[in-house]
Amino acid sequence: MSRGGAFLGDARSRLLPVSIPLRFFGAATLFHLLAWIALAASAGEWLDFDGGLGWPLAALHLVALGVLGMTTLGAGAQLLPVATRQPAPGSRWMAAIWWLYTPGVALLALGMGWPQTRWLAAGAVAVGLAFTAWGVLMIRNLRGARGMPGVVSHGWVALAALAVLLASALSLAGTWRGLSVPSRELTLGLHLVFAPYGFMGALALGLAYILVPMFALAEAPAERSQLISCALAALALLLAGIAAFGWQPVPLRIAALLAGAGSVGLHFQLMAQALRTGMRRELGRSFALVKIGWGGLAASLVVALALVLELPIARLSAWFGLCLVGVWLLSFLLGMLERILPFLGAMYAAGTARRAPTPSALTDERALRLHFACHVAALVGLALALAIDSARIAAAAALIGVAGALAFCVFYVTLVARLQRAGA
Ligand code: HEM
Repeated sequence: MSRGGAFLGDARSRLLPVSIPLRFFGAATLFHLLAWIALAASAGEWLDFDGGLGWPLAALHLVALGVLGMTTLGAGAQLLPVATRQPAPGSRWMAAIWWLYTPGVALLALGMGWPQTRWLAAGAVAVGLAFTAWGVLMIRNLRGARGMPGVVSHGWVALAALAVLLASALSLAGTWRGLSVPSRELTLGLHLVFAPYGFMGALALGLAYILVPMFALAEAPAERSQLISCALAALALLLAGIAAFGWQPVPLRIAALLAGAGSVGLHFQLMAQALRTGMRRELGRSFALVKIGWGGLAASLVVALALVLELPIARLSAWFGLCLVGVWLLSFLLGMLERILPFLGAMYAAGTARRAPTPSALTDERALRLHFACHVAALVGLALALAIDSARIAAAAALIGVAGALAFCVFYVTLVARLQRAGA
């Protein structure tokens, strides 16, 4: 079994042109800022959010699609070919996907926030087409895969979930346009599971089997355990999917949560082992964010159980959204992004620059320190606002989130400027 970045040996030969990942990660950084601004503008509404259109839903999708989706498209297109030892997708295709996806997300979010259902529908179609094109590129890649069966299996689960995500999303958009589509109850039930846990979750768990050993310089976790965790996750999605159709919803959802907890528990065990046995022990703030993310994943399953059992707890939907998208997916992703960006930048520079800068030379530590403090304070503030029902604290927390997102923009802009200065 290879240790750390050994598989990186021929990764350089599979690098997409630097402008491709940088435009995806750059757009994600900007949408991150817009998401916090949208939440700050609707903090009171967010406290009582229980579905439906408005700026809280727009803020949720600026994170879900603008940050998570955008980074997944960019990182997936670069990391999966390295894992499967296949050529990277054509950069022209990736550029076209970016030009369709980015304005699509902006239009969708505006359509949700204003609300303008015509914009929502147009944005949904553009985002749907971009995801479909990306999905086709990934299917071609996974079909030719050689090696890493654990990562590849998570890739297939994520692509299957992407199909359900897109069908449910377009149907939900159709509902708001008054089209004759399946019931909102069914499509929202599918959407809530297959979007965050199915597509995003399977990719976050799968790519962690590449990224965590790579950054910790550890052995890759046992393939067999990766496959068992993946099978449990697929079972959880299947059970939750059947429950959405209204057949035995409560027992099936509890069974899905148990299978999901089994999958996540095994995943955490494998991650803890990699971090414990890795040659690099001190992984810094970025991995503190990753661990906060893992905590959010575990908490989201507990809140999901409370939702299934309809426990009399106030604002459960908002708690679920906070744990799922705010604490888990966003913290995990920003933690990984602040490591991937300098790492990728240094790899590019090594091939082209006059003086090859190291990852730390490309990193503005002060900006990341500020981002970390603001991100954590904002999440704690939002939780406090939910606990004591305070719109004022929610607004203040969201504004701290805006300050953190601005600091993350500074980190990104500084990195690009230092890459340019190094002639990369
Ligand atoms: C093509 C992309 C997408 C479109 C067009 C879309 C559209 C929608 C629409 C219209 C709703 C509102 C449903 C309603 O209340 O009637 C919704 C809800 C939701 N979406 Fe998406 N979505 C997309 C992708 C995603 C992704 C990638 C995620 C998460 C990672 C996500 C997470 C959610 C959640 C959590 C809700 C439920 C909010 C609630 O009612 O509590 N969506 N989506």
